[in-house]
Amino acid sequence: MRNILMKILSAGAVMLCVGNAAKAMKNPEWLKTAVFYQIYPSSYMDTDNDGIGDLHGIYQRLDYIQSLGVNAIWLNPTFLSNWEDGGYDVIDFYKIDPRFGTNTDMVNLINEVHRRGMKICLDLVAGHTSDKCPWFIESSEGKDMHYSDYYIWTDNPYTQDDTVETAGMQVSPWARHIYVESNYPRAKFYRRNAGIFQPALNYGFADPNPDKPWEQPVDAPGPQAVRRELRNIMRFWFEKGVDGFRVDMAASLVKDDPDRKETIKLWNEVRDWMEKNFSDRVLISEWGNPVQAIEAGFDMDFFFHFGVPGYASLFFRRDTPFGNYDRNNKYTDCYFDLEGKGDLHQFVENYSNVLKQTKGMGYVSIPTANHDFQRPNIASRNTIPQLKVAMTFFLTMPGIPIIYYGDEIGMKWYMDLPSKEGSYDRSGCRTPMQWTNDEDAGFSKCSPEKLYLPVDTDGGKLTVETQESDPNSLLNYTRNLLALRKDKPALGNTSDWEMVSDVDQPYPMVYKRTDGKQTIIVALNPSGRKVTATIPKQNGKVTTLVGDKNLGRYRAGKDSDRIDMNAVSAMIFEVK
Ligand code: NOJ
Repeated sequence: MRNILMKILSAGAVMLCVGNAAKAMKNPEWLKTAVFYQIYPSSYMDTDNDGIGDLHGIYQRLDYIQSLGVNAIWLNPTFLSNWEDGGYDVIDFYKIDPRFGTNTDMVNLINEVHRRGMKICLDLVAGHTSDKCPWFIESSEGKDMHYSDYYIWTDNPYTQDDTVETAGMQVSPWARHIYVESNYPRAKFYRRNAGIFQPALNYGFADPNPDKPWEQPVDAPGPQAVRRELRNIMRFWFEKGVDGFRVDMAASLVKDDPDRKETIKLWNEVRDWMEKNFSDRVLISEWGNPVQAIEAGFDMDFFFHFGVPGYASLFFRRDTPFGNYDRNNKYTDCYFDLEGKGDLHQFVENYSNVLKQTKGMGYVSIPTANHDFQRPNIASRNTIPQLKVAMTFFLTMPGIPIIYYGDEIGMKWYMDLPSKEGSYDRSGCRTPMQWTNDEDAGFSKCSPEKLYLPVDTDGGKLTVETQESDPNSLLNYTRNLLALRKDKPALGNTSDWEMVSDVDQPYPMVYKRTDGKQTIIVALNPSGRKVTATIPKQNGKVTTLVGDKNLGRYRAGKDSDRIDMNAVSAMIFEVK
């Protein structure tokens, strides 16, 4: 089930790279200095002791969140859901799920976030609903009702050419993946977008096949009504103060749209509408192809576990659950592991290319992790120095940093947990936030067996309480890095990035950040051995901003400079 789901998601996400013809976008100003913190609300802070986090809990923890140095929050789905896919199966887009609180609680949270000068974005599942959504239920009952054409129904999704006989039925292996057999009176099949319980909303087909009359064009009344509904949902939450949305599977809306032309047009239309009505709000896509997503009008997209390859080669070992996830990941060893057998070619080529093509138009974000893939702390990368090297990378790259809750204290990716609400092998990154050394890690006061997922503080080491008072903790290191990023424009979201070490000799990885006035050099050695890089001579005096002689040393030379790095080390230098 999980594999099928993932194949469908990747198929929707890996796209052709089209040239970026987009006009330079006016991204809201606040994104220039934005740093996001992603929260999976079921796992952050439980104040009613039912074992599941809630909005009051997030409200109570705003002091902590702000203390990190982040200034924007993205919440995973919070709308009424059937919880078969962690909230990505929405029943009512206009209502906060009672497990988290009420719409009023959300407004209170938004207001408090704003009072603190921060921003908050919600998750918008634009491509599908739950099969328990009243729109789908009405649509399943027959034609000619208000919601009938919100979904895609057919008695026979197959053409004569592509059918085969299986178990006495004429079926198509291609179509079986995306059309689900139905017991509803409306028709024998409906189209899904993800799981079988996630029917696709009908935004129409890019190139409707005249032999398949259920494939409606994008301007047909049904698809147009769905577009209006999408804007209504957005307006509803914008008017309550929400600062933007992270759009789930943003590339999946218009069907059979291989180059995404119609999907791009659809989002451009949404963007134009936003510019007229809500111009300071942002759109973040789960697209996996920043060039295309930014062309579609999104402010930012991710460089992560699917789409343009590169992330996996840095963080996913082959023998970890996500090591084989990206079929483009040809590397057995990942870069940020102790063995030091990683390779930087795929990352550097693809990332530089994406950065170049989106420059001045939008942001490319490299998240520390998310609710769909493993955290940096895996069995082979679980020491604080190792995690500090990884964190230095995440927080010194251009684009908008996103810290996935708990990564700032090095919470583990937990192996072998049971599936929870459709998480399958994603349970490991959805465990409760670890605040204290108590039985429930301060997340809840419920009996431990009622916890959303189990906690494991590693004897109390991986908690906020322990790390607050330790100046060398990952938590305080993360804070220092964010303070430095704020202080040094060269490290900012829009400043340039360039590899200065030799990609053929990948350890240490040395890159330069500059805003044209200030120059910063970052050197990372995740390997367990001493390594040296020769880099072009930098003009000016070099001072150390992060690290000391126990970690490494910068040696200015006559024709070139040298950086010696001890095992597992990260350093940041300024050239003045
Ligand atoms: C992507 C979301 O991040 C993931 O958690 C979800 O399962 C799918 N989209 C389906 O909505």
